[in-house]
Amino acid sequence: MAEVMLDLRMLPKAEAYEQLEAHVRTVLEGTSDPIAAMATMSALIHHAFGHLWTGFYRVVETDRLLRVGPYQGALGCLEIAFGRGVCGTAATERRTQIVDDVDSFPGHISCDARSRSEIVVPILNRQGDLLAVLDIDAELPCAFDEDDQRGLERIVSWFAEY
Ligand code: SME
Repeated sequence: MAEVMLDLRMLPKAEAYEQLEAHVRTVLEGTSDPIAAMATMSALIHHAFGHLWTGFYRVVETDRLLRVGPYQGALGCLEIAFGRGVCGTAATERRTQIVDDVDSFPGHISCDARSRSEIVVPILNRQGDLLAVLDIDAELPCAFDEDDQRGLERIVSWFAEY
């Protein structure tokens, strides 16, 4: 399978995400299992861009608690309360959070001291309920922008189809 792990760092982001979404959809064809999808997406996104940490926090208590799901990278914290950190804020507000400098985000939860910037994308199911958030950390400041937001929101729209 090594040959199907694309490295898309050389491409303009919009093009990279187009290829990545197509790749994710090809790998997931015939699957409706959300955990399999989270594992596949975290592996492909992580290696496509060489991120520090890429993974999911799942809603395990509505409006209260997120618990870690499939991820790539160093050990992530197990649970995050709604409203706490970047993930908990994205979950409460149901809005993508782009953090250029994690040190300037009040309440940022540090799982890896090397993390400098972060994006967290809320994930809704078909009924419009919050299912999880996708969290990505980078070693460089200002690593994420609207292209990442658009590309990642498109990729996780997969979860609203099942
Ligand atoms: N930084 C996140 C916590 C999760 S780790 O980065 C994997 C936050 O503030 O919510």
